[in-house]
Amino acid sequence: MKHKTLKGFQDILPPEISGWQHIEGVSRNLFRNYGYQEIRLPVLESTDIFTRSIGETSDIVEKEMYTFKDKGDRSVTLRPEGTASFVRAYVEHHLFNNPAPQKFYYMGPMFRYERPQAYRYRQFYQIGAEAMGIEDPKLDAEIISMLARILSGIGLQGLNFEITSIGCKNCRPAYKDALKNFLGGKLNSFCSDCQRRFDLNPLRILDCKVPDCIASRQGAPPVIDYLCAECKGHFDSLKNYLEMLNVPHTINPNLVRGLDYYTKTAFEVSSESLGSQKAVAAGGRYDGLVDEFGGPPTPGIGFAIGMERIVPLIKDSLKGSEYPDLFICPIGQKDSEEALILAEQLRTKGLWVEVNYDGASLKSQMRKANRLGAKNVVIIGEDELRKGEVVVKDMIKGTETKSPLDIRELVKILKNSSQTH
Ligand code: HAM
Repeated sequence: MKHKTLKGFQDILPPEISGWQHIEGVSRNLFRNYGYQEIRLPVLESTDIFTRSIGETSDIVEKEMYTFKDKGDRSVTLRPEGTASFVRAYVEHHLFNNPAPQKFYYMGPMFRYERPQAYRYRQFYQIGAEAMGIEDPKLDAEIISMLARILSGIGLQGLNFEITSIGCKNCRPAYKDALKNFLGGKLNSFCSDCQRRFDLNPLRILDCKVPDCIASRQGAPPVIDYLCAECKGHFDSLKNYLEMLNVPHTINPNLVRGLDYYTKTAFEVSSESLGSQKAVAAGGRYDGLVDEFGGPPTPGIGFAIGMERIVPLIKDSLKGSEYPDLFICPIGQKDSEEALILAEQLRTKGLWVEVNYDGASLKSQMRKANRLGAKNVVIIGEDELRKGEVVVKDMIKGTETKSPLDIRELVKILKNSSQTH
């Protein structure tokens, strides 16, 4: 084969696409119930949008961005995530002037030059949500509850919801000192990246995936023990509200996010069925980010769901959704023109209708209908046409009925049969 997709990129073809559409549909419906509106952002942005917000010392910025010069010699980057682009748009369009809360969602591809492996791609799709302008932990609880409802609405079960607080700029200096005290004595046992990050941003050492570094940082103090009174109060209230809303969760003081912009609440949802890439969604608060982009201080919180990680988890529950309601089998030339018209009329009534185009035998047409998984077959022959009727075969129940060649009657029969399948 001469031309292939790039490593870490993939085509998404039917029937798998029906899983994607199902996930997008459930999400859109629930976003509407919670007042989130869709936004569409460019996939290409000026590089500094990401470096300053995600963090110069993060793995994403140091190693994973698709960055290149455009023809005007500007450094541009394919977005590795949505939040930074979103906040750029939020500030650029002065959306902060609208009454809070403002709630947005987006769906689209992100790009990270990571080592491809199962459930980890270089182009992957996220469904993200961002809510702006409210500092109260009730919003944190509400958005986590919405995420839980989206994931269960999609059909996912047995997920772990882990939450923590990673503090704010007021609690961070004391925590950084404590962490540096712990790490300082054994810095030699860490990789060169961690050693370099020790002075620049020691918190990033907690996110290093190198096995020796993971072992060496065992017992490091968790940031949750160093929260200031405000962050602690915020986290305690969040836990209370999650209980009130019946959102099952566990507290993981060692939860670390790979992006620098987070403050206070951070969370991750994972599935044990996915092996090492088990995070299906993650997010948190970013109360300093709008400020960073030159807007007025505005709190924000959001999450993103990884599509490629949830599609495999729902595959089995989607059987049947990608099959035609009807396959029309005409017997002769005249019947095949009649079939073309009938198919067109039935499609306007919301049915998925396939029709046979060539003059194949009825036997071979039936085989084709079977292969497509058509739920019903309508046979139009010369005799039937003369009598003004057609034969309807229910392919799942194996039953056969005669119906007048009348759109209303046919729709009734076909819709009834689709509902019972
Ligand atoms: P993130 O944790 O970097 O957060 O990504 C969110 C989700 O995207 C992950 O939990 C995972 O499901 C999926 N994901 C990430 N990288 C890959 C990959 N290489 N292949 C497949 N799936 C992947 C963010 O991106 C934040 N912007 C989330 C957020 C929104 N925080 C606040 N608002």
